[in-house]
Amino acid sequence: MSNDSTKKMVTVALGVCLVCSILVSTAAVALNARQEKNKESDKIKNILIAGELMQEGIDVKAVFDSKVQPEIVNLQSGEFLPESDYNAKLDPATFNVKVMADDPDYGTAIPADKDLARIRRMPKYMTIYIVKVNDQAEKYILPIYGKGLWSTLYGFLALNSDLQTIEGITFYEHGETPGLGGEVDNPRWKEIWKGKQVFRENGEVGITVIKGQVDPDDPDAQYEVDGLSGSTLTTRGLDAMVKFWLGDSGYGPFIRGHRIQKEEINEQG
Ligand SMILES: Cc1cc2nc3c(=O)[nH]c(=O)nc-3n(C[C@H](O)[C@H](O)[C@H](O)COP(=O)(O)O)c2cc1C
Repeated sequence: MSNDSTKKMVTVALGVCLVCSILVSTAAVALNARQEKNKESDKIKNILIAGELMQEGIDVKAVFDSKVQPEIVNLQSGEFLPESDYNAKLDPATFNVKVMADDPDYGTAIPADKDLARIRRMPKYMTIYIVKVNDQAEKYILPIYGKGLWSTLYGFLALNSDLQTIEGITFYEHGETPGLGGEVDNPRWKEIWKGKQVFRENGEVGITVIKGQVDPDDPDAQYEVDGLSGSTLTTRGLDAMVKFWLGDSGYGPFIRGHRIQKEEINEQG
């Protein structure tokens, strides 16, 4: 067979393709564990950022382990799940929002009229992260997720121990356009959230991501966050997502229960 015969060229091309595909699949399998580990470490970093515990050069895992206490919340009752009820799936160390939302036992479909965040399914339990100082809860870091324009955004909303004042927001995974919806990662925009109030006096969720900029003289300014410019659809998604997770289908029962408990403790003390 001569070197430029069609058969030989096709055989060589197929051979090269086969070798390359074996190399790529081997690399993908070999790197999968490392990618998962990196994703987990990125998530932990974002929990620390939301809780304002992140600094250059720190040992992320050590700070997380010493200052942050994960707890599993039953979203319907709003109560913490006792450790004695943890199992292979319900374990803060391995809790994965996406896996739990799809789980036939631990996930649930969201009725369309309640699905503000457009996520269709959600876990019945969520792992939340409590920043403790001298054994007292200082901040509650709540996982949130919902649809933007192109993607589902996954992040954390940090509330002060009053469960009313926002301490921070971060997103560790999304596919919005850099410079547009991707501005959710812009530290200046994230800064705007700090100090905003979540619930109105009547108990309704007040926090709103508006289109445009907040007028500081507006009496509602304490509940309002600037939208992302040129990104109305991501902005709407963010607004719907925070309303969903702070509402009755999300952390509403947990937040109400904890605020009542705190008021009772304060009254007794
Ligand atoms: C390539 C491209 C990427 C875009 N990415 C986003 C995005 O990530 N988020 C978003 O809300 N809008 C994005 N848009 C704009 C939307 O299509 C839409 O025009 C915009 O949300 C309307 O916002 P406005 O009313 O503030 O102009 C993108 C548009 C283009 C052409």
